[in-house]
Amino acid sequence: MADGPRAVILAAGNGTRMRSARPKVLHALGGRSLIDYSVELATEVCGRRPLVVVSPLQPAVAAHLDGCADVVIQPQPLGTGDAVRAVPAAFRKPGPVLVLNADVPLLRRETVDRLIDAAMGHACALLTVKDVEKRGLGRVYRNAVGDVECIVEERDLVDGAVVPDECNAGSYVFDGSRLWPAIERLTRDNVQGEYYLTDVVALLDGPVAAVLTSDPGETLGINDRRQLAAAEAELRRRTLDRLMLAGVTIEDPATTYIDALVEIGEDSVVHPMIVVRGATHLGRECEIGPMAQLTDVRGGDRLHIGASVLEACELGDDVVIGHFDRVRPHSRLHSRVSLGTHAEVKNSTLGTGSRVGHFACVLDSDIGQDVNIGAGAVTCNYDGAVKHRIAVEDGVFVGTNATLVAPLRLGAGSYVAAGSLVNQDVPAGALAVGRARQRNIEDWAVRRRRGDRG
Ligand code: UD1
Ligand code: CA
Repeated sequence: MADGPRAVILAAGNGTRMRSARPKVLHALGGRSLIDYSVELATEVCGRRPLVVVSPLQPAVAAHLDGCADVVIQPQPLGTGDAVRAVPAAFRKPGPVLVLNADVPLLRRETVDRLIDAAMGHACALLTVKDVEKRGLGRVYRNAVGDVECIVEERDLVDGAVVPDECNAGSYVFDGSRLWPAIERLTRDNVQGEYYLTDVVALLDGPVAAVLTSDPGETLGINDRRQLAAAEAELRRRTLDRLMLAGVTIEDPATTYIDALVEIGEDSVVHPMIVVRGATHLGRECEIGPMAQLTDVRGGDRLHIGASVLEACELGDDVVIGHFDRVRPHSRLHSRVSLGTHAEVKNSTLGTGSRVGHFACVLDSDIGQDVNIGAGAVTCNYDGAVKHRIAVEDGVFVGTNATLVAPLRLGAGSYVAAGSLVNQDVPAGALAVGRARQRNIEDWAVRRRRGDRG
């Protein structure tokens, strides 16, 4: 693989059209940063880290790329050609050079492979697209034998000129031995006063091939937030197709929002109005929603997840999450755990087969196996300064509406009576009753009616 192309990714533009304090290439797409897509693709194709051209005004980009790519700074954003001029001499080898715009994230691997093949015997091969909303794209002029003669940026088109419907998609494979001398001959004699990489096409010594893609979606460039939303929709469509072809039923793709890296196992069913984000991986035969929201959830097989919100947690097989529950980060629910309705779990472990009833709240706790946390039971962990933990050993039964005050340990098989406030450890097998004894006042109601409350 070491002989594969070297990749240069252009990411040093100002991204002005995004109207954002955040660098354009760090905006989120499908749960990842825009730039991750081109970096991953280039790494896959080339078998080594790409070189990313970054702006000195956007240190967050280099920080984000730490370890995944080499970076070089383009001192000023003088255009895409100038960005390529920033590539240091040590990188400038004779072999093939893949150049990608970092703001074109949905390019497919097969397409880059086609470009590499087409570049053989040429000074360059570039990707083109037709039938797109062409706003802002460079137009590709071919000669009689079909090679590319030049690219004219939209803003530089002269009135009355013949305008081809073929556009430049911003992905190129150059022959390094011809690119590097030509790049130094660029001028900024154009409407924007920039060094255009596209102008190098006419300066190269040798023919330039164009590879026309039949899928305009993969050439979507992101310059403003409307295009970001368009790319998000395109990526979502791809992700849903991937999952459906892998055996997941998606009842209503139009209301299903699943990030690019999400995995869901075969024979799972996804009901409408679902948002699944980040690095969520679920096993087979799961049933999700309607109206669930999952972020970074690692789950096993046969999960049932109702209209609940789950974040950064791990679920074993056969876990049942009811409706309106919230599972917050650092929670681990082992197999067959079930949550009722309106339950909350945070920073806690629940052992195999344990159940949490409706309106119960389990925070900062280590709960053993086959424990019953009754409806409305709450843990009290925070003393105003420190959060203390609660340990509940196997087989404990916590009655409805119990209040468990940390630090606390409930021994194996112990019981907590309903309505108790428990702030002392309970030995294994004991019953804790922490509540006022009930008294019945005879005839109280009769006397009240008479006005005699004594
Ligand atoms: C560019 C192409 C256009 C093509 C389109 C495809 C040029 C001159 N034009 O236009 O033909 O149809 O892409 O999407 O190349 N960048 C730098 N340094 C700079 C300027 C830009 O690194 O000084 C980077 C940007 O961060 C971006 C990429 O280069 O990732 C493309 O720049 P952009 O300004 O978006 O070019 P387009 O106008 O889209
Ligand atoms: Ca662009």
